[in-house]
Amino acid sequence: MALLVERPLRLCSAHYLLRIRHTIRECMPGQFVNLRGWSGHDPLLRRPFSVFNRESDVLELVIRVVGKGTEILSRMEPGEIDLLGPMGRGFTIMENRSVLLAGGGVGNAPLHYLARMLKERGNRVSCIYGARSREYIYREKEFREICDSVIFTTDDGSFGTAGTVTDAAREILSHEAFDRIYSCGPTAMMRSMVELAGSAPIEISVENYFGCGIGLCMGCTIETTQGMKRACIDGPVFDGSSIKWESLC
Ligand SMILES: Cc1cc2nc3c(=O)[nH]c(=O)nc-3n(C[C@H](O)[C@H](O)[C@H](O)COP(=O)(O)OP(=O)(O)OC[C@H]3O[C@@H](n4cnc5c(N)ncnc54)[C@H](O)[C@@H]3O)c2cc1C
Ligand code: FES
Repeated sequence: MALLVERPLRLCSAHYLLRIRHTIRECMPGQFVNLRGWSGHDPLLRRPFSVFNRESDVLELVIRVVGKGTEILSRMEPGEIDLLGPMGRGFTIMENRSVLLAGGGVGNAPLHYLARMLKERGNRVSCIYGARSREYIYREKEFREICDSVIFTTDDGSFGTAGTVTDAAREILSHEAFDRIYSCGPTAMMRSMVELAGSAPIEISVENYFGCGIGLCMGCTIETTQGMKRACIDGPVFDGSSIKWESLC
């Protein structure tokens, strides 16, 4: 059993940081945990969340409150918490290369841990962090510290550059080449990122609806050029060029 070490910390509008002590052997950026902070059958299933950070045996998650499960998690008291994982296929970690990370909303969460690990492996890390508005930006200072460069974009222009992640990516990619691009966020954004990447390798992390989260129910199946894949077992990280986007949009 894992242990929530302190009350969830409010980071920004509707977003909370959960710190959970857990015996972890390996944890790659892009992997997720299945979490349940309630007893009984409502909600029925555990909820999946990407790893935002890891400090030895403490996992950090950023949770955006959207419904009953996340609402309960955001109000939990320290103590035991039901956690499965880390599980799923994470991002490919390059060494001594130049990489671009592009995240939208709560999709920036897995990119934080990814940026940290990529920096530790000698990569030059550029990041585009997109959000609806200033109230939805969390851990700005940490992103600036970890990455070599960060561009913040907001849809309403209340912070950073006005516009979308893809507007900023289009501009950067017009004059700079990257060895790999990583993206997580809304489906339409990731789809555009794959188009913008052209021939550059791009990995995306899907956040579609999960059921069991452990490969049994087929509820998370998506279509790829290699056939139908279960996002919870074969992903959530996929080669962006392999996704048949119509199955997700
Ligand atoms: C691999 C993976 C990683 C994820 N990582 C994070 C993370 O780091 N932080 C985070 O806050 N969330 C993350 N999510 C999304 C998170 O799992 C859902 O928001 C959560 O399960 C909602 O539970 P709930 O009971 O609060 O909401 P529900 O009552 O289940 O749903 C409330 C509303 O949210 C919508 N919703 C629920 N799940 C999703 C989803 N997956 N995509 C789009 N809309 C949804 C529903 O349609 C409904 O409108 C991730 C999802 C996946 C699959
Ligand atoms: S969520 Fe059940 S198989 Fe993936």
